[in-house]
Amino acid sequence: MTGAGGQLGRALQEEFAAEDLVAWTRGDWDVALPPPLLDPPPGLVLHAAAWTDVDAAEDDPQEAAAVNVGGTRHVAELGAPLVYFSTDYVFDGGKAEPYLESDSPNPLSAYGRTKLYGEGAAGEQAWVVRSSGLFGPSGKNFVTTMLRLAREQDEVVVVDDQRSAPTYVGHLAAATRELLDRPFGVWHLAAEGDCTWAEFAEATFEEFGVECRVRRISSEDLGRPALRPANSVLRSEKGAPELPHWREGLRACLQRIE
Ligand SMILES: NC(=O)c1ccc[n+]([C@@H]2O[C@H](COP(=O)([O-])OP(=O)(O)OC[C@H]3O[C@@H](n4cnc5c(N)ncnc54)[C@H](OP(=O)(O)O)[C@@H]3O)[C@@H](O)[C@H]2O)c1
Repeated sequence: MTGAGGQLGRALQEEFAAEDLVAWTRGDWDVALPPPLLDPPPGLVLHAAAWTDVDAAEDDPQEAAAVNVGGTRHVAELGAPLVYFSTDYVFDGGKAEPYLESDSPNPLSAYGRTKLYGEGAAGEQAWVVRSSGLFGPSGKNFVTTMLRLAREQDEVVVVDDQRSAPTYVGHLAAATRELLDRPFGVWHLAAEGDCTWAEFAEATFEEFGVECRVRRISSEDLGRPALRPANSVLRSEKGAPELPHWREGLRACLQRIE
């Protein structure tokens, strides 16, 4: 697998611990460089390495593409079936209903474009897993950031006009394993339910018993460099493995943090 040092990579290592898994960090293989020669080729590659800094990709789209598109092409060159992790940010957010696998992508950001082109670079022997708002007990994610801010201040400002399904990495890893019995192709694997980031921050403080106010603002007020979709709730029309609700994800995360 690639991306072993990332938050999803760590969850995948736990889920696939019983398998003969080789876990590559960036130090083992920078995927922007050609792949190592593996003889025999692996039976399966879980490709969780990516440029994930959405705002920084606006300033450096070439470097982001070198990792997310070129890197995925390199992984496909290993010649094994692969799982490529993609994102809700391939959509423009203009749909009123949840996005299905058959909906047309139209990314608003450089990051979203690189991840979409990466889907193509994954090739024919690939499960393309689109998920959203990943969080887990370690690494830099919305939950760990909110908990850190709550230790430093009594109020956080959070956008209230982006709706998605924040997904716990442990639940995504388990659903990924189940997906391997399904055909190759694009699959939406995200938590049940949906919320705005402000609602998710409030729920995080509630579940973790933390006192901190949430001031709701708009994406325009926040003024981040990259545009994000207003609605990027993902659902499957293909009978994808189902994930628990995002609240259950928060509770599972809480047990791992304490
Ligand atoms: N985070 C989300 O909300 C979200 C939502 C939907 C989909 N996804 C997708 O899910 C996957 C996993 O995301 P994540 O949240 O686990 O991200 P993450 O915690 O940022 O992990 C990404 C990993 O990729 C590694 N990496 C970056 N550039 C690399 C390179 N050139 N060669 C090898 N490794 C490299 C990073 O290593 P360093 O730490 O050394 O840079 C890091 O360990 C990604 O494909 C992402 O696009 C994420």
